[in-house]
Amino acid sequence: METVVSGIRSTGKLHLGNYYGAIQNFIKMQHEYNCYFFIADLHSLTTHPTPADLHGNVKQVLVEYLAAGIDPERATIYIQSDVPEVAELYLYLNMNAYLGELERATSFKDKVRANPDNVNAGLLTYPVLMAADILIHKATKVPVGKDQEQHLEMSRTFGNRFNRLYNHEYFPEPYAFNYSNNLVKIPGLDGKGKMGKSEGEGNAVYLSDSPEVIRKKVMRAVTDSGPTAENQEKPSEIQNLFDLIKVVSTPDTYQHFDELYNKCQIRYGDLKKQLAEDMIIGTAPIRERINDIANDQAYLRQVARFGAAKARESASKTIREVREIIGFRNF
Ligand code: TRP
Repeated sequence: METVVSGIRSTGKLHLGNYYGAIQNFIKMQHEYNCYFFIADLHSLTTHPTPADLHGNVKQVLVEYLAAGIDPERATIYIQSDVPEVAELYLYLNMNAYLGELERATSFKDKVRANPDNVNAGLLTYPVLMAADILIHKATKVPVGKDQEQHLEMSRTFGNRFNRLYNHEYFPEPYAFNYSNNLVKIPGLDGKGKMGKSEGEGNAVYLSDSPEVIRKKVMRAVTDSGPTAENQEKPSEIQNLFDLIKVVSTPDTYQHFDELYNKCQIRYGDLKKQLAEDMIIGTAPIRERINDIANDQAYLRQVARFGAAKARESASKTIREVREIIGFRNF
């Protein structure tokens, strides 16, 4: 069975875009592949070396993934910092990662430009740590978006270089993995593209949002003054609302509002009310599970320990072999 690895950013609440996109795919993948999903808390230190609430952030992400349906009995879900073998592999890979190639990475350059006073060696070697995350389990499939393509290419470079330098066909090549080709695109509520893309409060509906908050956000969604001719093409912010309806409401509801739009009889307030209620109904079970799991300290501890043990089983085997290949020997 092929191995899948994905790192989850340890900051930020999950929104509907994450849920209907990446997470739905994770949930399906866990039945078909040997999956490792981990919370990338070490990576978070590259930009925030002294985080205010590291544990709280990690907990929130763990709780929300479990609530959304990642099954710790099927996938190995763990916290990156619980697996010290990752840090050890990172150290070895760092010896063969060149300054020039690290400096050329787009994400590094972007971060240097954005925060020129916050450039540490960890930020520079972020792609090496990511390669260690993947190579530690000898994974071949990595479900990441386009923005991670360059990092993944660097993972292949580091793995191949290791194989060449130590003259051992050891690490396989990891590639971006598109589980389903018809990726659902969830637009944001500000009419400006994907949910979560823009920072503005109100652009995204979070799985943990209360019904009142969801209603408020949806009612504030951007609209226009309405269609002026029958069967008129929808401007993008209106199309966005219809796209959301398509995902969270029934086909009947979609058709109903589509017909009203085409007859120039639509009232956006009614559409938004319906959309908000359907979002609330759709997310209710997850919201309840988020609350239950967040309060179940014993369960969280059990999941984290179980995941770390499974991840370390795979990781320690790799480290044992890597040490042998490099030439470390016991006396
Ligand atoms: N860099 C990834 C992101 O920003 C997170 C990540 C860290 C990751 N390590 C990984 C993703 C390993 C896949 C595999 O989203």
